[in-house]
Amino acid sequence: MTEKQYIQFFDTTLRDGEQTPGVNFNTKEKVQIALQMEKWGIDVIEAGFPISSEGDFEAVKAIAGAVKNMTVAGLARCNEKDIDAAYDALRDAVDPQIHIFIATSPIHMEFKLKMSKEEVLASVAHHIAYAKSKFEKVQFSPEDATRSDWDFLVEVINLAIEKGATVINIPDTVGYTNPTEFGNLFKYLKQNVTRFDDVIFSSHCHDDLGMATANALAAVENGALRVEGTINGIGERAGNTALEEVAVALHIRKNYYEKETGMVLKETKRTSDLVSRLSGMPIPRNKAVIGGNAYAHESGIHQDGVLKNPETYEIITPQLVGVEHNSLPLGKLSGRHAFVDRIAQMGYEISDPAEIKILFARFKELADKKKNVTEEDIHALMVGKSIED
Ligand code: KIV
Ligand code: ZN
Repeated sequence: MTEKQYIQFFDTTLRDGEQTPGVNFNTKEKVQIALQMEKWGIDVIEAGFPISSEGDFEAVKAIAGAVKNMTVAGLARCNEKDIDAAYDALRDAVDPQIHIFIATSPIHMEFKLKMSKEEVLASVAHHIAYAKSKFEKVQFSPEDATRSDWDFLVEVINLAIEKGATVINIPDTVGYTNPTEFGNLFKYLKQNVTRFDDVIFSSHCHDDLGMATANALAAVENGALRVEGTINGIGERAGNTALEEVAVALHIRKNYYEKETGMVLKETKRTSDLVSRLSGMPIPRNKAVIGGNAYAHESGIHQDGVLKNPETYEIITPQLVGVEHNSLPLGKLSGRHAFVDRIAQMGYEISDPAEIKILFARFKELADKKKNVTEEDIHALMVGKSIED
């Protein structure tokens, strides 16, 4: 039997995630999040961008000292001062990694960097070599890779590997690509990068077109051994790949993907709740994997199925991700089976079908008027009180 490939999880909640408008973690909160990421099974944490501010430098330093079982990464532009700051901030890390980036797309090179292709290549050569003199683990990202010329990407990546990069990360910086195209890009890199198998290829996707998770999984199917993202998908604009979605997809569809991860899935909800609370960003109820409705079934047909066998409508057990149990909220679409089940759970023993028929009719009448029927409503209904009381 062939061994399954291990997919590393790289969490950038504290760097790209903190680029969410309105989100600002203090150092204590960042350390708390980093320690929870360690429990969640994250392999690499991007603790921040040390040159960007004194606060970020201090936070990266504090995380580097606190974390023992994850690689700790710091971001740097192609700039010696950035690399020096990352080196100083990561001195105490058990396993430090630098993450260097420069844009390679025509629009970024012309308007943002005002650099030619040759100048970008020269900068990559110099700064990767400089970083390599200080770090064993060097990650390189050609920013806006998905809007870059593929042959130029190959040239830049070959050079970065030659100068010592150990990880090549492919960012879909503006969430522009789609799964077929991103998968093909990884295939192309695999065929054309000279030492593809000597380094780790990684995906870094944004969700502008709602495809960040699908794109990350397409990368995994085509040679990526690392997935970058954030918990709850927080990040610039529409956010980053939601790591909980990728982790659970690889688990639930393990026979399809045939990959292994170190993710401790039962820590998912705790990690998500912590970041939601500290970032002040509520999780949409319909969010995959961790939303409040992800394990709630409201329609009568679904409730009846779930009561007979949860697998009829649940592909993920709530307990897998640390959610206590599913729920069958009662509303106007709910069926008799769920209603009877709920009143039994509330302690009412009613077996007479005629009585159940009357109670269920009264419940339906109420549900037509109310969005959610609460347990208080049902108690009132059971003792024959008026609904309007
Ligand atoms: O989205 C992006 O391109 C980034 C890079 C810094 C990797 O976040
Ligand atoms: Zn990004």
